[in-house]
Amino acid sequence: MLTMNEVMELLANRGQGHVVDAAMRRPPSDRLRYCDTVLGIDLEGLLDSLDAAILAQPKPSPRSMATPDCVDLENDHLDPSFVEAREVGEAMLARGEVACILVAGGQGTRLGWSGPKGTFPIGPVSDRSLFQLFAESILALQRRFGQSIPWGIMTGGQNHVATAQFFTTNDYFGLSPNTVRLFQQGAVPTFDSGGKIILDHAGEIMGAPDGHGGVFRAMEKADIFAWFGESGAKHVFYFQVDNPLCVVADPVFLGIHAERRAEMSTKVVSKRSATERVGVVAVVDGTLRVIEYLEIPSSVSQLRESDGKLTFRAANTGIHAFSIEFMEYVARSHRLPYHVTKKQLPGSMEINGATVDGWKAEQFVFDALPMARHPSVVHVSRKREFSPVKSSNGQDSPEEAREALCEHYRSMLRSSGVRLSEKAREQPIEISPVVAVDEIDLRRLNLQTLDIDGPIILTHDSFKFSTSEKHPTTSAPFSNPARLTSES
Ligand code: UTP
Repeated sequence: MLTMNEVMELLANRGQGHVVDAAMRRPPSDRLRYCDTVLGIDLEGLLDSLDAAILAQPKPSPRSMATPDCVDLENDHLDPSFVEAREVGEAMLARGEVACILVAGGQGTRLGWSGPKGTFPIGPVSDRSLFQLFAESILALQRRFGQSIPWGIMTGGQNHVATAQFFTTNDYFGLSPNTVRLFQQGAVPTFDSGGKIILDHAGEIMGAPDGHGGVFRAMEKADIFAWFGESGAKHVFYFQVDNPLCVVADPVFLGIHAERRAEMSTKVVSKRSATERVGVVAVVDGTLRVIEYLEIPSSVSQLRESDGKLTFRAANTGIHAFSIEFMEYVARSHRLPYHVTKKQLPGSMEINGATVDGWKAEQFVFDALPMARHPSVVHVSRKREFSPVKSSNGQDSPEEAREALCEHYRSMLRSSGVRLSEKAREQPIEISPVVAVDEIDLRRLNLQTLDIDGPIILTHDSFKFSTSEKHPTTSAPFSNPARLTSES
């Protein structure tokens, strides 16, 4: 890592002398704080990426691209051929070797929700929030495997306090507070259209969130690696706050990751169409990586196999597994590239009352893939595992995600042998993860028929657990649904 003097020298040599002057005008005791957004980052890499973005980067040539090898789990998540992988993953969970990281630092601009995205009400019947859904999934796994699962949540400067308050007022949704840690992501400087670091009226460096790829550095800064290490965790299940269908700490995925000795594994789903604005996992010049949709030549996006499927269809889901050693390596290597794009900088970055067009730099978590030894790619069912809440309406909207959740719960009931009457099939439906995270839990409840003409919800208070553990508390508003009672 560069020293303060080296950073000043680099800034001066790269046309950013105005920042050096501004720093030198500060009292010496304030200089370290002043330089926070330029210290401890790969500043040279950032300035190089900025220069490259200004020049416009070339797209990879179609001939350099190939499809990745994928483990195919698309058709049946409970496929018997993955029994062994499931057993391996379950053993990892039972030995307490798995920790979770959720990234929730984004600004959620497209959704237009005023609070942190994780507080968004997504439960089709209960309106339980995304955070509650994930917290209950982790709670259920802790009970099933008799081990605590440390859970790190990355927040952003704008939503950290509100996120912390949400967990406190909701009693951590039944989780023990010492198994949950919130930590903040970092910021990087913003640049004006001429490539100069923007200073605000007070002469401070105008920072912007460093992207979900900031998670490695933020984990190191907040001692999350040390905490995971002390708890015995060796692997991290990484997920993003906007996908309510995510199978949290999926044992099959973790098992495949461990069996292949992968430093990083990633889940992909089939792209909806050639023009869907989503990054794809591909091999470029022999290296596995995610290519953003803007980088892919359209002639390549349109390519199809003989069975009509898109050739480059492995869409990135933002669900990964990592070995903790590898995450630490990425954090210390400072090799994650910056993606620099021209954007209208957010309202808080107005200068003289006018919004500014400038360059924003972000790091992406998936850029760790090319650094990983034995990376694995697991192709899963989109319908079952991926329905991100990105926009207030249309594609990737909350409405779509709620419908996907209902369909998932119906399918869980069907495959665990529960008969749904015609009336019941048309109802919104929800199963709290503390009642059942999957079909395996549901079968144990020995339900037989479901014949309810009203919203259906299976929550912790409609069942008696066989264990003596305390039921989780919740303050989610319930919409007076018909309660299902167990026939057991
Ligand atoms: P998105 O790329 O969808 O961004 O984030 P967003 O900020 O949530 O939404 P828009 O683009 O402003 O509409 C994907 C995941 O990465 C996290 C988000 O919280 C989400 O879980 N993220 C994104 C961060 O944690 N930090 C960031 O700087 C950006």
